[in-house]
Amino acid sequence: MNETRNLDLLPEVLPSDPLHWADAWIKEATTAQVQRNPNAMTLVTVGPDARPSARMVLCKQFVPDPGYLVFYTNYKSRKAADIASNNHVAALFHWDALGRQIRIEGVTVRSPDDESDEYFASRDWGSQLGAWGSDQSAPIESRQALLRQIQQRARSLGLKPGSRSDQLLDENRPLIKRPPHWGGYRLWITAIELWIEGPDRVHDRAVWTREIVRENARGSEDGFSVTPWTGKRLQP
Ligand SMILES: Cc1cc2nc3c(=O)[nH]c(=O)nc-3n(C[C@H](O)[C@H](O)[C@H](O)COP(=O)(O)O)c2cc1C
Repeated sequence: MNETRNLDLLPEVLPSDPLHWADAWIKEATTAQVQRNPNAMTLVTVGPDARPSARMVLCKQFVPDPGYLVFYTNYKSRKAADIASNNHVAALFHWDALGRQIRIEGVTVRSPDDESDEYFASRDWGSQLGAWGSDQSAPIESRQALLRQIQQRARSLGLKPGSRSDQLLDENRPLIKRPPHWGGYRLWITAIELWIEGPDRVHDRAVWTREIVRENARGSEDGFSVTPWTGKRLQP
């Protein structure tokens, strides 16, 4: 991207590729340590009953070219069930300390297995065990029952569990493989709005949209190709 980037205001002539701006904002929020999880975003899905539901997830990768972000979760969770029936989602980043918001809309597909494997292998093993131990979004009768379930599953993975996860540490522990029901989603971005807080509520806003064309041509990631962005400034 060649446009000069003034991070405090969007330029008069809107940048042709907003994802590089978004990427810079996420990186800046991370470097500036403005909050504990600067990569946290609200993810909104819509269930089969057409009702929306929101929760936080962590954006683990932001890929401006060709234009998707990645989050990880349980493929049997409520959000995954929603996505299975409707893969259109929305996501929202907000950094209060920076006065910035990013709104995202797009379509979601599962990450390639090898990518999820690689990320899972990089996680600390308490988190790895957590992915096996919890049937995310399913009810359970008590917290005690949850802890028992986690310990039972740890044992079945060949681990020697204690009563707390930090007592499960064992240098000779076996490698934990990624559970088949846990992995990444790529959110292919079709609309993005960059918002900057301004004085007297005169905020700076612009939205960019593009189409994702499904094509089966080899070489295009996830079978998608994208049209160029169209951007317009919005009144605050
Ligand atoms: C800051 C923060 C980050 C979170 N990150 C994730 C995440 O990356 N993946 C995930 O599955 N849940 C994450 N959670 C938990 C979710 O918000 C949610 O409780 C869980 O995924 C179950 O959602 P569901 O029942 O709608 O599927 C996070 C929660 C918070 C507060």
